[in-house]
Amino acid sequence: MKIVPFDVENWMNEREMSARWNIGETCVDSLTLDELLALSGDAEAALARLRGMKLTYGHIAGVPRLRELLAQSYEDLPAGNVLTTSGAISANFLAEYTLVEPGDLVVCVEPTYQQLFSVPESFGAGVRLLTLRPENAFLPDVDELRGLADGRAKLIVINNPNNPTGALIDREHLEAIVEVARECDAYLLADEVYRGLEHEPGTQVPSVVDLYEKGVSTGSMSKLYSLAGLRLGWIAGPADVIADCEQHRHYTTISCGMIDEQLAIIALEASERLLERNLAILRGNAARLADWMATEPRLDYVPPRAGTTAFLHYDYDVPSVRFADELFELNGTFLVPGGAFGWEQWLRVGFTPAPDVLAAGLAGISEYLRTLEA
Ligand SMILES: Cc1ncc(COP(=O)(O)O)c(C=O)c1O
Repeated sequence: MKIVPFDVENWMNEREMSARWNIGETCVDSLTLDELLALSGDAEAALARLRGMKLTYGHIAGVPRLRELLAQSYEDLPAGNVLTTSGAISANFLAEYTLVEPGDLVVCVEPTYQQLFSVPESFGAGVRLLTLRPENAFLPDVDELRGLADGRAKLIVINNPNNPTGALIDREHLEAIVEVARECDAYLLADEVYRGLEHEPGTQVPSVVDLYEKGVSTGSMSKLYSLAGLRLGWIAGPADVIADCEQHRHYTTISCGMIDEQLAIIALEASERLLERNLAILRGNAARLADWMATEPRLDYVPPRAGTTAFLHYDYDVPSVRFADELFELNGTFLVPGGAFGWEQWLRVGFTPAPDVLAAGLAGISEYLRTLEA
């Protein structure tokens, strides 16, 4: 099976671990194990429970308490309609592995996480891309979507909130997208790993699972809960899709790690406090980013409304990969060039590391911009 290189992941893999100021990654400042155990209220007791665990395969489809907690992030979803996976990356793969066959028409937004359109392409689907444009606040144009879906799409794929733009599709707009999917009898897969990370209080939007009988959602402990190291995600959707995914999952996963699942339960049971921490980092850093943007007249952006990434446009005559490489060499600031998304003269900034790291990274970009101007 041939597949094109995953540009963002290759970029991250080559540089991330030697970055001085990492404003390329997309998680809200990750927790240490100690910080996570402290959230349980009794770290010693939580650790003792983990120590005493016999390390079997555990519950194949996910430990029931975890599935129950994950189901609570949807309006009215039975725990059995949630399947755990090794990160959202496996959830997305599993959904497409299950739903897409050679020759199917798949429509996917771009820019987005490349996996969402490169995987169905590798399965032999005909993939049409719906380009999100800054003049539309990076929101999908529903008429254009209808044209691309052509009454016969098997699957429509969105990413809400969107990586890299931070665009947030609201309920009304989602309902219009659902209407297009319904006209085709298509599945609607929404990568929702940034859902819950809205910048303005009260702007949280529903999952496609709550809006559409053929809606499938993928989620993750990585971003919202700052626990990428658990490598735990999930897929939620209609019972028949989940049953089918389970059959496909037996060939790739068996089960997720028992320790990871128990740690995820600790985070979810303390989600109110954890999200309070994370939304404070998110909102404070979004404001820091906006203040800094105002000092750089040759940069512009559509301010993100949700999620941890901002997509910045620059008015300098330098290709984005060169920009990012020279920046990295100059002062160790690490970000992702727009070229990794197929967008030249753009940069993706992950703006939710610890606030001092963001401040240093933004100062690092300014230092580099001055060299371009010199
Ligand atoms: C939109 C999107 N989906 C999925 C993933 C993968 O996340 P996970 O760590 O849960 O595998 C990422 C990671 O950056 C992402 O941005």
